[in-house]
Amino acid sequence: MKCREIRDSFLGFFAERGHLIMPGAPLVTDDPTTLFTVAGMQPYIAAFRGEEKPPAPRVAGIQKCARMGDLERVGRSATHHTFFEMLGNFSFGDYFKQGAIEYAWEYVVDVLGIPREDLWITVFQDDDEAERLWHEHIGVPLQRIVRLGRGENWWPQERWEGPCGPCTEIHLDFGPGVGCGRPDCSPACECNRFVELWNLVFQMYTEAPDGTLTELPAPGVDTGMGLERLAMILQGKRFSAETDEMWRIIERTIAIARDEWGRELSYGADPEVDVALRVICDHARGAAMITADGIAPTNEGAGYVLRRFLRRAYRFGLDLGASGPFMYKLLPTVAEVMGEAYPELRERQE
Ligand code: SER
Repeated sequence: MKCREIRDSFLGFFAERGHLIMPGAPLVTDDPTTLFTVAGMQPYIAAFRGEEKPPAPRVAGIQKCARMGDLERVGRSATHHTFFEMLGNFSFGDYFKQGAIEYAWEYVVDVLGIPREDLWITVFQDDDEAERLWHEHIGVPLQRIVRLGRGENWWPQERWEGPCGPCTEIHLDFGPGVGCGRPDCSPACECNRFVELWNLVFQMYTEAPDGTLTELPAPGVDTGMGLERLAMILQGKRFSAETDEMWRIIERTIAIARDEWGRELSYGADPEVDVALRVICDHARGAAMITADGIAPTNEGAGYVLRRFLRRAYRFGLDLGASGPFMYKLLPTVAEVMGEAYPELRERQE
């Protein structure tokens, strides 16, 4: 499935199951605690807290997100990006653990056709109910269900005063031939045998700075699945940057190198060239998305991140032989491949 088909399929699946499809929020937020929207649930914080009426008891959407914490891993890791798209379904006091688990399994196994034997589950260490649902209700063998602690199966990882709760994740197993090869390898392992596919958060509390948990007025569901990773799996690629839309940006960079810098680059021949091409691709998307939200390069805030993307991408470009500024030449390609999902890219291209 192409990225476009994945977006349509995900939204269609949840629309058919009574979810209101919501447009995403802007990437650059006016939330004083984050520069960018970092998760699909961010526009719904007040709804989870019971301070605002949610748009519907169950909604779904695709949220453009950016996280800077993985910046140094971008290009080297198969799956990390600064800008990414999060597919998510949300329940505000409507369905809870069972519904969230049933929908996720049905979508991944029945709709996407990912073999059930390749899927592992993690649950929060104390969440007997989630483990029971996965094992007894869905039929996942206990050997493929792993209990993990606060660092892995609680969202968010860092303590904050917003909605939080235990989560359960679906991981894809690339098989014992990939990664560390240890017989006890599992999704708890840091090697690249497993990739986290979908995070289902059971939003139940807010947490005070001293760790005191207060129950939300109604328990909710907040799920997030990265489109880029899913596309990588469905398209059989080793890096998410090799999937159809990002690949066009890489191809365009290779064409610029050939036509303007006199360099014949080929992807897959030199690992450092590949890293540079993937970093440039990531930063071109991030820079385009931030700019489309009306931000210009500055010395602080979101504008500083934009400036950093441009500078960093150019630095990697120099390694490829760049002889002048080139990021602006990638923007039309970003707008072309992602402009249907994000019309602001085309509207503000000039
Ligand atoms: N909030 C969770 C995440 O960002 C699930 O959407 O991973």
